[in-house]
Amino acid sequence: MKRDIIAGNWKMNKTQAETKELIASLVPAVANANCEVVICVPFTNIEVARKAIRGTKIKLGAQNVHWAPKGAYTGEISADMLKELKVEYVIVGHSERRQYFGETDQSVNARAKAAILAGIKPIICVGETLSEREEGKTAAVVVRQTNEALEGLEKTDLKQVVIAYEPVWAIGTGKTATAQEANDTIAIIRKAVRRLYGKTVGNALRIQYGGSMNAKNAKELMSMPEIDGGLIGGASLKAEDFGAIVNYDK
Ligand code: 13P
Repeated sequence: MKRDIIAGNWKMNKTQAETKELIASLVPAVANANCEVVICVPFTNIEVARKAIRGTKIKLGAQNVHWAPKGAYTGEISADMLKELKVEYVIVGHSERRQYFGETDQSVNARAKAAILAGIKPIICVGETLSEREEGKTAAVVVRQTNEALEGLEKTDLKQVVIAYEPVWAIGTGKTATAQEANDTIAIIRKAVRRLYGKTVGNALRIQYGGSMNAKNAKELMSMPEIDGGLIGGASLKAEDFGAIVNYDK
């Protein structure tokens, strides 16, 4: 049985002191959640977060990982470095990385592979921009991003993978895809995965929705058959809101 997965993407927010504070209020807020709960914190907060979530149901995630095991890559962090800090999940190919840091389908693929090799589960982000949507290219874009991101991965690797569908125009804008739109595009992504790895793997893959998901719309989004979770930005920084989101089924 696959289990829904809701992850908070803290992006570039919170100092170590603020991390401790936020986790202290997150712990009781998510204690009764039935889904898997993950927080993806900035690199500098991983160690503090690891200690603060010990013995709770919150799992630890990072926001990026480099593809090389080590070397001259100033400013980057390797999968082994994350593994040593007990990181279980890592976001790969977020649209902000694609947009501001030149991330390509190929680098996303390489980063996802490095994560899997180290035993860290990549949360691979795909999603169309507003202009791509308006030009009717949504399906083509998400299928290309999915195919390229998974290039060279084996069937067994897919057990470790989570995909997040995040329409770029819905991120941080307060505009959410309707539950139906999100569901339909996720169905297209799943179909692409089925084409690559077969029905069983495609159906078992967890695909999240992300983009202005909040306490109000989580229930409706999560009730859709294709949606297996959420990747939450802004609302993951408020314990009350994140708590309400992960308790969408109550
Ligand atoms: P918001 O929830 O702030 O729209 O961000 C979504 C996101 O980018 C999560 O990765």
